[in-house]
Amino acid sequence: MSLSSIIKNIPKAELHLHIEGSLTPELMWRLAEKHSVSLPYASVEEIEAAYNFKDLQSFLDLYYAGAGVLRDEDDFFILMWEYLTRCAEENIVHTEIMFDPQTHTERGIGFDVFMPGFLRAIQKAETEYGISSYLIMSFLRHLPESEAYQTLEAAKPYYQHIKAVGLDSSELGHPPSKFERVFKKAKSLGFKIVAHAGEEGPASYIWEAIELLDVDRIDHGVRCQEDQALMAYLKEKQIPLTVCPLSNLKLCVIDDMKEHNIVQLLDAGLLVTVNSDDPTYFGGFLNENFEALHTALNIDESTIRALAANSFRASFLPAERKKALI
Ligand code: ADE
Ligand code: ZN
Repeated sequence: MSLSSIIKNIPKAELHLHIEGSLTPELMWRLAEKHSVSLPYASVEEIEAAYNFKDLQSFLDLYYAGAGVLRDEDDFFILMWEYLTRCAEENIVHTEIMFDPQTHTERGIGFDVFMPGFLRAIQKAETEYGISSYLIMSFLRHLPESEAYQTLEAAKPYYQHIKAVGLDSSELGHPPSKFERVFKKAKSLGFKIVAHAGEEGPASYIWEAIELLDVDRIDHGVRCQEDQALMAYLKEKQIPLTVCPLSNLKLCVIDDMKEHNIVQLLDAGLLVTVNSDDPTYFGGFLNENFEALHTALNIDESTIRALAANSFRASFLPAERKKALI
Protein backbone atom coordinates (compact mmCIF):
# COMPACT_ATOMS: atom_id res chain seq x y z
CA MET A 1 0.00 0.00 0.00
CA SER A 2 1.30 3.49 -0.81
CA LEU A 3 2.00 5.97 1.99
CA SER A 4 -0.88 8.11 0.69
CA SER A 5 -3.30 5.17 1.02
CA ILE A 6 -2.03 4.49 4.55
CA ILE A 7 -2.51 8.15 5.48
CA LYS A 8 -6.01 8.13 4.00
CA ASN A 9 -7.17 4.79 5.39
CA ILE A 10 -5.76 4.77 8.91
CA PRO A 11 -8.37 5.77 11.53
CA LYS A 12 -7.41 9.03 13.21
CA ALA A 13 -8.59 11.64 15.68
CA GLU A 14 -8.27 15.38 15.12
CA LEU A 15 -7.77 17.38 18.33
CA HIS A 16 -6.89 20.90 17.17
CA LEU A 17 -9.40 22.32 14.75
CA HIS A 18 -11.13 25.70 14.93
CA ILE A 19 -14.54 25.26 13.36
CA GLU A 20 -14.49 28.88 12.17
CA GLY A 21 -11.20 28.02 10.46
CA SER A 22 -12.90 25.33 8.36
CA LEU A 23 -15.09 27.88 6.55
CA THR A 24 -14.40 27.37 2.84
CA PRO A 25 -14.17 30.39 0.51
CA GLU A 26 -17.19 28.93 -1.37
CA LEU A 27 -19.33 28.79 1.79
CA MET A 28 -18.14 32.27 2.82
CA TRP A 29 -19.26 33.55 -0.58
CA ARG A 30 -22.65 31.77 -0.42
CA LEU A 31 -23.43 33.02 3.09
CA ALA A 32 -22.37 36.58 2.22
CA GLU A 33 -24.90 36.50 -0.63
CA LYS A 34 -27.57 34.94 1.59
CA HIS A 35 -27.24 37.66 4.25
CA SER A 36 -26.28 40.54 1.94
CA VAL A 37 -22.96 40.94 3.71
CA SER A 38 -20.44 42.85 1.64
CA LEU A 39 -17.02 41.17 1.44
CA PRO A 40 -13.82 42.98 0.43
CA TYR A 41 -13.41 40.42 -2.40
CA ALA A 42 -14.85 40.27 -5.93
CA SER A 43 -14.85 36.45 -6.24
CA VAL A 44 -14.14 33.15 -4.50
CA GLU A 45 -10.73 33.17 -6.21
CA GLU A 46 -9.96 36.57 -4.69
CA ILE A 47 -10.76 35.22 -1.23
CA GLU A 48 -8.32 32.35 -1.80
CA ALA A 49 -5.67 34.73 -3.13
CA ALA A 50 -5.88 36.80 0.07
CA TYR A 51 -4.70 33.85 2.19
CA ASN A 52 -1.08 34.89 2.46
CA PHE A 53 -0.02 35.59 6.00
CA LYS A 54 3.12 36.98 7.55
CA ASP A 55 2.29 36.02 11.13
CA LEU A 56 -0.54 34.92 13.42
CA GLN A 57 -2.14 38.38 13.67
CA SER A 58 -2.34 38.89 9.89
CA PHE A 59 -4.26 35.60 9.71
CA LEU A 60 -6.52 36.38 12.68
CA ASP A 61 -7.62 39.67 11.11
CA LEU A 62 -8.97 37.79 8.06
CA TYR A 63 -10.33 34.89 10.07
CA TYR A 64 -12.47 37.09 12.35
CA ALA A 65 -13.71 39.10 9.35
CA GLY A 66 -14.58 35.87 7.48
CA ALA A 67 -16.62 34.57 10.45
CA GLY A 68 -18.86 37.62 10.02
CA VAL A 69 -20.91 35.78 7.38
CA LEU A 70 -22.10 33.23 9.99
CA ARG A 71 -25.46 34.58 11.11
CA ASP A 72 -28.19 32.02 11.75
CA GLU A 73 -28.47 28.50 13.16
CA ASP A 74 -28.39 26.91 9.70
CA ASP A 75 -25.09 28.64 8.87
CA PHE A 76 -23.46 27.06 11.93
CA PHE A 77 -25.05 23.71 11.07
CA ILE A 78 -23.67 23.81 7.50
CA LEU A 79 -20.22 24.88 8.69
CA MET A 80 -20.04 21.95 11.13
CA TRP A 81 -21.64 19.49 8.70
CA GLU A 82 -19.16 20.31 5.92
CA TYR A 83 -16.22 19.76 8.30
CA LEU A 84 -17.60 16.46 9.62
CA THR A 85 -18.30 15.25 6.07
CA ARG A 86 -14.65 15.94 5.29
CA CYS A 87 -13.73 13.95 8.41
CA ALA A 88 -15.72 10.98 7.08
CA GLU A 89 -13.78 11.20 3.79
CA GLU A 90 -10.45 11.33 5.65
CA ASN A 91 -11.14 8.50 8.09
CA ILE A 92 -11.23 10.80 11.10
CA VAL A 93 -13.35 8.79 13.51
CA HIS A 94 -13.18 11.16 16.47
CA THR A 95 -12.75 14.91 16.67
CA GLU A 96 -12.40 17.54 19.39
CA ILE A 97 -13.52 20.83 17.86
CA MET A 98 -12.79 24.35 19.10
CA PHE A 99 -15.26 27.15 18.72
CA ASP A 100 -14.84 30.83 19.61
CA PRO A 101 -18.09 32.05 21.23
CA GLN A 102 -16.84 35.63 21.61
CA THR A 103 -16.36 35.98 17.84
CA HIS A 104 -20.13 35.56 17.60
CA THR A 105 -21.49 37.01 20.86
CA GLU A 106 -19.59 40.25 20.12
CA ARG A 107 -21.77 40.52 16.98
CA GLY A 108 -24.98 39.87 18.90
CA ILE A 109 -25.18 36.18 17.95
CA GLY A 110 -25.73 34.10 21.06
CA PHE A 111 -25.19 30.55 22.27
CA ASP A 112 -28.86 29.88 21.44
CA VAL A 113 -28.01 30.39 17.75
CA PHE A 114 -24.66 28.64 17.21
CA MET A 115 -24.94 25.78 19.73
CA PRO A 116 -28.13 24.23 18.27
CA GLY A 117 -26.56 24.43 14.78
CA PHE A 118 -23.33 22.76 15.93
CA LEU A 119 -25.13 20.09 17.96
CA ARG A 120 -27.51 19.15 15.13
CA ALA A 121 -24.56 18.55 12.77
CA ILE A 122 -22.61 16.61 15.41
CA GLN A 123 -25.62 14.37 16.10
CA LYS A 124 -26.17 13.76 12.37
CA ALA A 125 -22.47 12.86 11.85
CA GLU A 126 -22.63 10.45 14.80
CA THR A 127 -25.66 8.73 13.26
CA GLU A 128 -24.68 8.80 9.59
CA TYR A 129 -20.87 8.54 9.74
CA GLY A 130 -20.25 7.04 13.20
CA ILE A 131 -17.96 9.98 14.05
CA SER A 132 -17.80 11.04 17.72
CA SER A 133 -17.16 14.71 18.50
CA TYR A 134 -16.41 16.78 21.59
CA LEU A 135 -16.62 20.57 21.71
CA ILE A 136 -13.92 22.83 23.17
CA MET A 137 -15.05 26.35 24.07
CA SER A 138 -12.12 28.72 23.55
CA PHE A 139 -11.65 32.14 25.11
CA LEU A 140 -10.12 34.91 23.00
CA ARG A 141 -6.95 35.96 24.84
CA HIS A 142 -6.76 39.45 23.30
CA LEU A 143 -9.95 40.28 25.27
CA PRO A 144 -10.03 40.84 29.05
CA GLU A 145 -10.42 37.97 31.51
CA SER A 146 -13.73 39.53 32.67
CA GLU A 147 -15.19 38.77 29.22
CA ALA A 148 -14.00 35.17 29.43
CA TYR A 149 -15.93 34.93 32.74
CA GLN A 150 -19.05 36.31 31.04
CA THR A 151 -18.63 33.72 28.28
CA LEU A 152 -18.31 30.89 30.81
CA GLU A 153 -21.52 32.12 32.44
CA ALA A 154 -23.39 32.47 29.13
CA ALA A 155 -22.47 28.88 28.21
CA LYS A 156 -24.21 27.45 31.30
CA PRO A 157 -27.25 25.96 29.50
CA TYR A 158 -24.83 24.01 27.27
CA TYR A 159 -22.27 22.73 29.80
CA GLN A 160 -23.24 19.11 29.18
CA HIS A 161 -22.28 19.51 25.51
CA ILE A 162 -18.86 21.08 26.15
CA LYS A 163 -15.91 18.85 27.06
CA ALA A 164 -13.11 21.35 27.48
CA VAL A 165 -12.25 25.03 27.73
CA GLY A 166 -9.38 26.49 25.69
CA LEU A 167 -7.41 29.66 25.02
CA ASP A 168 -6.65 31.02 21.55
CA SER A 169 -6.15 34.19 19.45
CA SER A 170 -3.17 36.60 19.63
CA GLU A 171 -0.55 34.89 21.79
CA LEU A 172 2.24 37.47 22.15
CA GLY A 173 1.50 39.91 24.96
CA HIS A 174 -1.37 37.78 26.28
CA PRO A 175 0.26 35.11 28.46
CA PRO A 176 -1.75 32.34 30.13
CA SER A 177 -1.30 34.10 33.51
CA LYS A 178 -3.85 36.71 32.34
CA PHE A 179 -6.54 33.98 32.56
CA GLU A 180 -5.47 32.10 35.68
CA ARG A 181 -8.66 32.75 37.68
CA VAL A 182 -11.20 31.93 34.98
CA PHE A 183 -9.43 28.67 34.16
CA LYS A 184 -9.44 27.73 37.85
CA LYS A 185 -13.20 28.23 37.76
CA ALA A 186 -13.55 26.19 34.54
CA LYS A 187 -11.49 23.35 36.04
CA SER A 188 -13.66 23.36 39.18
CA LEU A 189 -16.73 22.97 36.94
CA GLY A 190 -15.22 19.74 35.57
CA PHE A 191 -14.00 20.91 32.16
CA LYS A 192 -10.80 19.61 30.63
CA ILE A 193 -8.34 22.42 29.91
CA VAL A 194 -6.31 23.19 26.80
CA ALA A 195 -4.41 26.32 25.75
CA HIS A 196 -2.50 27.55 22.73
CA ALA A 197 1.06 28.13 23.91
CA GLY A 198 4.48 28.13 22.30
CA GLU A 199 3.13 28.81 18.79
CA GLU A 200 4.55 32.34 18.45
CA GLY A 201 5.02 32.81 22.19
CA PRO A 202 8.06 31.64 24.18
CA ALA A 203 8.55 28.41 26.10
CA SER A 204 7.73 30.32 29.32
CA TYR A 205 4.10 30.56 28.11
CA ILE A 206 4.00 26.75 27.96
CA TRP A 207 5.22 26.60 31.57
CA GLU A 208 2.52 29.12 32.54
CA ALA A 209 -0.17 27.05 30.80
CA ILE A 210 1.00 24.00 32.77
CA GLU A 211 1.59 25.60 36.16
CA LEU A 212 -1.15 28.25 36.24
CA LEU A 213 -3.91 26.86 34.01
CA ASP A 214 -3.30 23.17 34.82
CA VAL A 215 -3.75 22.19 31.19
CA ASP A 216 -4.50 18.66 30.00
CA ARG A 217 -3.00 19.45 26.59
CA ILE A 218 -0.97 22.17 24.90
CA ASP A 219 -2.07 23.43 21.49
CA HIS A 220 0.99 23.86 19.22
CA GLY A 221 3.82 23.92 21.79
CA VAL A 222 6.49 23.65 19.09
CA ARG A 223 8.75 26.19 20.82
CA CYS A 224 9.18 23.79 23.79
CA GLN A 225 12.54 22.78 22.31
CA GLU A 226 13.98 26.08 23.50
CA ASP A 227 13.84 24.82 27.11
CA GLN A 228 15.37 21.42 27.89
CA ALA A 229 13.78 21.26 31.37
CA LEU A 230 10.39 21.80 29.74
CA MET A 231 11.10 19.04 27.20
CA ALA A 232 11.93 16.67 30.05
CA TYR A 233 8.74 17.63 31.91
CA LEU A 234 6.49 17.20 28.85
CA LYS A 235 8.05 13.79 28.28
CA GLU A 236 7.76 12.66 31.88
CA LYS A 237 4.13 13.77 32.27
CA GLN A 238 3.18 12.87 28.68
CA ILE A 239 1.35 16.17 28.30
CA PRO A 240 0.16 16.09 24.68
CA LEU A 241 1.07 18.70 22.07
CA THR A 242 -1.43 19.21 19.25
CA VAL A 243 0.94 20.20 16.46
CA CYS A 244 -0.26 21.80 13.20
CA PRO A 245 2.42 21.61 10.48
CA LEU A 246 0.74 23.52 7.60
CA SER A 247 -0.41 26.19 10.06
CA ASN A 248 3.19 26.65 11.26
CA LEU A 249 4.34 27.05 7.67
CA LYS A 250 1.54 29.45 6.61
CA LEU A 251 2.00 31.64 9.71
CA CYS A 252 5.79 31.73 9.26
CA VAL A 253 6.54 29.94 12.55
CA ILE A 254 8.87 27.97 10.25
CA ASP A 255 10.26 29.00 6.84
CA ASP A 256 10.23 25.55 5.26
CA MET A 257 8.43 22.31 6.15
CA LYS A 258 11.84 20.59 6.10
CA GLU A 259 12.61 22.56 9.29
CA HIS A 260 9.57 21.26 11.18
CA ASN A 261 10.52 19.73 14.53
CA ILE A 262 7.58 17.32 14.96
CA VAL A 263 9.67 14.20 14.27
CA GLN A 264 12.39 15.41 16.66
CA LEU A 265 9.71 15.90 19.34
CA LEU A 266 8.28 12.43 18.67
CA ASP A 267 11.74 10.86 18.77
CA ALA A 268 12.42 12.66 22.06
CA GLY A 269 9.45 10.77 23.56
CA LEU A 270 6.87 13.58 23.60
CA LEU A 271 3.20 12.82 22.97
CA VAL A 272 2.76 14.78 19.74
CA THR A 273 -0.19 14.66 17.33
CA VAL A 274 -0.89 16.06 13.84
CA ASN A 275 -3.77 18.48 13.27
CA SER A 276 -5.00 21.02 10.73
CA ASP A 277 -5.86 24.06 12.94
CA ASP A 278 -7.67 26.23 10.33
CA PRO A 279 -7.59 24.00 7.26
CA THR A 280 -9.28 26.23 4.67
CA TYR A 281 -6.97 29.13 5.53
CA PHE A 282 -3.76 27.10 5.72
CA GLY A 283 -4.11 25.00 2.58
CA GLY A 284 -4.90 21.58 3.90
CA PHE A 285 -7.11 19.33 6.01
CA LEU A 286 -5.65 16.64 8.26
CA ASN A 287 -4.48 14.15 5.62
CA GLU A 288 -2.78 16.95 3.69
CA ASN A 289 -0.83 17.77 6.86
CA PHE A 290 0.38 14.16 7.00
CA GLU A 291 1.18 14.32 3.27
CA ALA A 292 3.20 17.52 3.76
CA LEU A 293 5.24 15.82 6.51
CA HIS A 294 5.81 12.81 4.29
CA THR A 295 7.00 14.99 1.39
CA ALA A 296 9.26 17.28 3.43
CA LEU A 297 10.52 14.97 6.16
CA ASN A 298 10.08 11.61 4.47
CA ILE A 299 8.13 10.18 7.43
CA ASP A 300 7.53 6.46 7.05
CA GLU A 301 4.64 4.12 7.79
CA SER A 302 5.65 3.46 11.40
CA THR A 303 5.82 7.20 12.13
CA ILE A 304 2.37 7.72 10.59
CA ARG A 305 1.00 4.87 12.71
CA ALA A 306 2.66 6.29 15.85
CA LEU A 307 1.15 9.74 15.20
CA ALA A 308 -2.30 8.27 14.54
CA ALA A 309 -2.11 6.21 17.75
CA ASN A 310 -1.06 9.36 19.63
CA SER A 311 -4.16 11.17 18.36
CA PHE A 312 -6.32 8.72 20.34
CA ARG A 313 -3.96 8.59 23.32
CA ALA A 314 -4.08 12.41 23.59
CA SER A 315 -7.85 12.60 23.17
CA PHE A 316 -10.43 13.03 25.94
CA LEU A 317 -12.13 9.75 25.01
CA PRO A 318 -12.84 7.27 27.82
CA ALA A 319 -10.06 4.73 28.44
CA GLU A 320 -12.00 1.77 26.98
CA ARG A 321 -12.66 3.52 23.65
CA LYS A 322 -9.03 4.65 23.46
CA LYS A 323 -7.92 1.06 24.00
CA ALA A 324 -10.17 -0.17 21.22
CA LEU A 325 -8.83 2.46 18.79
CA ILE A 326 -5.06 2.30 19.43
N1 ADE B 1 -7.49 30.89 16.34
C1 ADE B 1 -7.65 30.18 15.23
N2 ADE B 1 -6.48 29.64 14.86
C2 ADE B 1 -5.55 30.02 15.76
C3 ADE B 1 -4.17 29.78 15.93
N3 ADE B 1 -3.47 29.04 15.08
N4 ADE B 1 -3.55 30.36 16.98
C4 ADE B 1 -4.24 31.12 17.82
N5 ADE B 1 -5.54 31.37 17.71
C5 ADE B 1 -6.20 30.82 16.69
ZN1 ZN C 1 -5.27 26.79 16.81
